Amino acid sequence: TILVLDFGSQYTHLITRRLRELNVFSEMLPCTQKLSELKFTPKGIILSGGPYSVYEEGAPHVDPAVFDLNGMQELAYRIDSANVIAGTHREYGHATLRARSIGGHVDRLFDGIEESMRVWMSHGDKLAKLPEGFHTVATSDNSEYAAIAHGSKAIYGLQFHPEVTHTQNGTALLKNFAVGICGCKQDWTMQKFLEEAVAQIRHTVGEKGQVLAAVSGGVDSTVAAKLMKEAIGSRFWAVLVNNGLMRLNECEQVQKDLSEALGINLTVVDASKEFLDGLKGIEDPEKKRKFIAAAHDPTKAGKIEFFMQGTLYPDVIESLSFKGPSATIKTHHNVGGLPERMMNGQGLKLIEPLRSLYKDEVRELGRALEIREELVMRHPFPGPGIAVRILGEVTPEKVEIARQADHIFISEIRKAGLYNQISQAYAAVDPSRAVGVMGDKRVYGYIVVLRAVTTTDFMTAEAFNFPWDFLQRVMNRIVNEVHGVCRVVYDVTSKPPGTIELE
Ligand code: XMP
Repeated sequence: TILVLDFGSQYTHLITRRLRELNVFSEMLPCTQKLSELKFTPKGIILSGGPYSVYEEGAPHVDPAVFDLNGMQELAYRIDSANVIAGTHREYGHATLRARSIGGHVDRLFDGIEESMRVWMSHGDKLAKLPEGFHTVATSDNSEYAAIAHGSKAIYGLQFHPEVTHTQNGTALLKNFAVGICGCKQDWTMQKFLEEAVAQIRHTVGEKGQVLAAVSGGVDSTVAAKLMKEAIGSRFWAVLVNNGLMRLNECEQVQKDLSEALGINLTVVDASKEFLDGLKGIEDPEKKRKFIAAAHDPTKAGKIEFFMQGTLYPDVIESLSFKGPSATIKTHHNVGGLPERMMNGQGLKLIEPLRSLYKDEVRELGRALEIREELVMRHPFPGPGIAVRILGEVTPEKVEIARQADHIFISEIRKAGLYNQISQAYAAVDPSRAVGVMGDKRVYGYIVVLRAVTTTDFMTAEAFNFPWDFLQRVMNRIVNEVHGVCRVVYDVTSKPPGTIELE
């Protein structure tokens, strides 16, 4: 394992990603992590960049133990005890890096890499002189110390970002560090993860323990549920709460997929009336989310000791990472476990078997668990469901319209073979009444908003570029087949500034 200590750079998680893509397991923890409290022994440590100048008051500092690890030479060193000057030359963007050849050889960090490469720089401060015991292994036009190395220990300092795709050969460089220098094996595979996860769950739950989970039919909860079933069989219980805000026929379909195809113990609780009644008159998006979060209480089901949740790594990172005060953009209720009253109030222990995985790794785990491709590739669907796809008050009529329109849109996307090229797509209802003419009469109807985006991490996104005739076909079907709609618009907003959901 390579431990990545995060100082708050927006790129930190990419270091972990790149290493995992090399089949080297890597975990990211906040920079203030005490090494003595680690549950594993890393073969190497990488300190990320960060927005703080090391001189700044309140700047985070790493556990000093990192620098006096006995016998541990595999260490990348953030140049913060050395002589740093606040950059008069801030450097952002491309630079040409030249590996320095010493006695006819470049440093082993650059093994097999061309001596000159384009790298991505993003820094304000820079090193003014070499720290004791170090020498330069690569330079750029702007920096005599673009990469430095310790003379006798395996400690490196890099001024550029090897983890971003703009850096040529960045992955090769990380591989040289992790595999060549730290001695990590490239043996981390999904099959191995699956075996370890099953063993870990059995160990945590014990011989008799029972586990409950709320499932939605989405990729994460489906994969997590199948994993639990694999580990403890019929001692795993899944509950699907029909909150009345699921898509057309979704509840029935999920029931079929989970209980028939995957053999999971599934109970469906129909709470649609309760939810829709409770949502009456609520227009504020945050209030909608809060009501839905509070009304979901799967622990009503009975005597259970563990509660399983399909939390993913990005959610974990978000809550652990050193970011300073960051504003809540929206409350995502499925992050961070159930409310206290439902967990320890009932003596429930949380179990999160996917918490070290990224989304695409979860899909891969799903394949390793032999879950069919269509389920593994499902677009994400927000916990509050259609409620956040109806602007303003949620009413049964608008839910029905959103459902019908969404069904048409998604079926057409599938038919056109575009589903897997799109990261997320849906139809929403704007309740403003637009005017139209239908059969020579003036009509007022709702506006259906179509949204489809591509994204890798859901933090930024672009609208999908549909062929014009595709959009026309969908529009035609929606205005003809969905009663109460007289206009269809396609939302071309990118994120930022727009979010993926409308509210
Ligand atoms: P936004 O709209 O913030 O969405 O760009 C990013 C991703 O998060 C999903 N999303 C939610 N998921 N509860 C959820 O479980 C929520 O309240 C929620 N709001 C947004 C959204 O569907 C997209 O995948």
